[in-house]
Amino acid sequence: MRDRHVVVVGQGYVGLPLAVAASRSGRTVIGVDLDAARVDELNGGRSPVGDVSDAELREQLDAGRYSASTDFTSAKDADVVVLCVPTPYHNDAPDLSYIEHAAQQVGECLAPGTLVILESTTYPGTTEEVLLPVLERASGLGGGVDLQVAFSPERIDPGNPTYGLHNTPKIVGGVTPEATERAAAFYRGFVETVIPVSGPKAAEMAKLLENTFRHINIALVNELAILSQDLDVDVWEVIDAAASKPFGFMPFYPGPGVGGHCIPVDPMYLSWRVKQFGGAAKFIDLARDVNAAMPLYVVTRVQDLLNERERSLKGSKILIVGVAYKPNISDMRESPALPLIDILRAKGAVVSYSDPYVANLQLTDGTTLSGVPLDDEGLSAADCVIVVTPHADVDYSHVAGAAGLVFDTRNVAPRDRPNVHRL
Ligand SMILES: NC(=O)c1ccc[n+]([C@@H]2O[C@H](COP(=O)([O-])OP(=O)(O)OC[C@H]3O[C@@H](n4cnc5c(N)ncnc54)[C@H](O)[C@@H]3O)[C@@H](O)[C@H]2O)c1
Repeated sequence: MRDRHVVVVGQGYVGLPLAVAASRSGRTVIGVDLDAARVDELNGGRSPVGDVSDAELREQLDAGRYSASTDFTSAKDADVVVLCVPTPYHNDAPDLSYIEHAAQQVGECLAPGTLVILESTTYPGTTEEVLLPVLERASGLGGGVDLQVAFSPERIDPGNPTYGLHNTPKIVGGVTPEATERAAAFYRGFVETVIPVSGPKAAEMAKLLENTFRHINIALVNELAILSQDLDVDVWEVIDAAASKPFGFMPFYPGPGVGGHCIPVDPMYLSWRVKQFGGAAKFIDLARDVNAAMPLYVVTRVQDLLNERERSLKGSKILIVGVAYKPNISDMRESPALPLIDILRAKGAVVSYSDPYVANLQLTDGTTLSGVPLDDEGLSAADCVIVVTPHADVDYSHVAGAAGLVFDTRNVAPRDRPNVHRL
């Protein structure tokens, strides 16, 4: 087997499933992470990521094919190094410092002939204009000759029971045709379908297109949800009816805003990059504004419902059901529950939350909220229950039965109850 020794830098939602999949395919894998506590946890057989079970991790540890380390010098014996580090968006600009740091550390110990693959989501041009120069400088190796570099976007969807790493096609684009072919051969070892493209830019842009497509379509239905309220039309019924068309339509659903590392962040990478050239990504910027306004819209609707009951939002007890950014996982990154809670509290509401996956919640002002059980006492005491994240293991009929007033932003509570109102 070629490219048997693998180092995966960053052992989070993306890097750990990749490391375990490569290890299961018979390769020896070292997962490098700056976080020493995470490295200890991994070496102790405990997976911090839902998509990798402790048993799967232990199997690879016991087979001697996987280990975790904080030491970047393990890259000196690697045939392939894959970078899966964060790419946040800070102060209206992409933060590529994690990529630069990892590239510097890896570059300082690279042996000639190594293939380096970047998986972190980023704007077109990053692999060739940011990653490659840092690697070349740090290693003294020439890109394309002694050093092969490629980009392959991660498409992992944490918590998705149908599509995982092995059956989600993997796009690869190398700086040279040789790098593309070598990266494609590496992934074919544990991914069913690999799609080579002309180079890193096409691969980087493909990922941004996928997430921008979602971002804009969610904004479109969010706007339609607001318009439908004014038109007295049930937007959920309309979407289901439109989705009966077997071609040319794909349903997206409204909600209290968008969350996660990808949908709110990735399109902004593209928008930022386009502005560097004096252009504008008008659809992206508009979608961001529409989606970012949804938490305030939810508060306005709740305020109106309380008003009809001669109550003010100030002083009302509001119970949020589900705070993670999407169902059935604990990930809070960019969750719309955070701005929603901020706005409610700023208007004087007394906010509590219940989420089977999130025990404690750090608010933007530094306050920590602890989750409460979703019991009849709490439901009946709330002036309004807002369903924000539709976790599958919550009984929404029970919620509707026990609560006085429910505002359902996800269309999961029973439609026929007079106390249930939907976005
Ligand atoms: N989570 C997803 O659903 C998802 C999906 C597709 C793409 N992505 C992209 O994948 C990349 C990684 O995201 P993630 O969700 O795995 O992040 P994560 O925060 O779960 O994990 C990142 C890990 O990298 C480590 N790290 C940070 N800087 C490091 C460095 N310089 N050297 C070594 N380790 C370092 C952190 O300690 C952490 O354990 C991002 O670019 C993200 O946009 C994420």
